[in-house]
Amino acid sequence: MRKRLFSGHDRDVSLETRIGSVTLPNPVMTASGTSGHGSELAAFADLNDLGAVVVKSLCATRFNGNDAPRLYPLPVGMLNSVGLQGPGLKAWIEHDLPAAARNAERIVVSIWGRTVEDYAKAAAILKGSPAVKRSVIAVEVNVSCPNIEDRSRMFAHSVTATSEAVAAAECGLPRWAKLSPNTHEICEVAAAALQAGAEALTLVNTAMGVAVDVERRSAVLGAVGGGLSGPALKPIAMRAVWECRDAFPDASIIGVGGVASGVDALEMIMAGANAVQVGTATFRDPRAPWKVISEIRSWCKKNGETRLEDLVGVAHA
Ligand SMILES: Cc1cc2nc3c(=O)[nH]c(=O)nc-3n(C[C@H](O)[C@H](O)[C@H](O)COP(=O)(O)O)c2cc1C
Repeated sequence: MRKRLFSGHDRDVSLETRIGSVTLPNPVMTASGTSGHGSELAAFADLNDLGAVVVKSLCATRFNGNDAPRLYPLPVGMLNSVGLQGPGLKAWIEHDLPAAARNAERIVVSIWGRTVEDYAKAAAILKGSPAVKRSVIAVEVNVSCPNIEDRSRMFAHSVTATSEAVAAAECGLPRWAKLSPNTHEICEVAAAALQAGAEALTLVNTAMGVAVDVERRSAVLGAVGGGLSGPALKPIAMRAVWECRDAFPDASIIGVGGVASGVDALEMIMAGANAVQVGTATFRDPRAPWKVISEIRSWCKKNGETRLEDLVGVAHA
């Protein structure tokens, strides 16, 4: 049996974290789209030592994504326009979920759609799969994607569309709503997601950006627009977490954006997040999520904290 490095209660510090009806041994997860379809990071460390593994967003059907180039590194993070490429949920369940489930006890599947009907189709596939029932602990409903029935405006920029997509994603598993930072109405959208049945808010997806190559005199990314992630996103994500914690004192909140260290995670937690996800940092160091756990634990020990939960939202006092 593999030695477990981090369990919820060892070494005098409890990192146990509740997200809605789900209990995690610690608050650190991978961020959707930055660690593959479930098992890729198992080559670097034990996935069971993470709070959970969140897989790349999947649509009911196969999707090819955007034209290349799709990634552009920046001094403050990166822009990506992968465009939600994926094999479709059924193919993922058949080909990727078995390996993911062998490596990780806590898998969160992320779904997306271009119409409300797409979310309903994805939910029906999840509901009909015994393998999903056995191996998946929650569904992250990525509403930070274009709604082709509303001039490709993002679902998460509309209270109504968010409510409809989250409701359509009902599949018997806990739903977490992943929101966009590109709106001044994040609390209104979050309220709609919670009212539609989301047990948690994942805050945030990438911020919209553009880069230009002056030598070529054209946009760098094939899709022109991309999503900004990494360190530059952290204060934007922190703002979303802070405002939603103020607005929804009892909601479960997962902070995501620029988390690369234990201190980054603790900033999110003190701003009001119950848990965090690590994305772009994983491209630089695939072991980054594990490092974040270990640094949280060390900080707690050094500062005499025995329960991480006690730190959630303390910066609001
Ligand atoms: C290359 C790449 C692909 C991504 N794909 C998805 C995705 O499929 N679904 C999703 O909800 N978020 C996706 N995201 C957003 C991340 O999950 C995360 O919200 C964002 O990158 C901010 O976190 P970070 O700064 O730690 O990367 C992607 C981000 C990157 C960089």
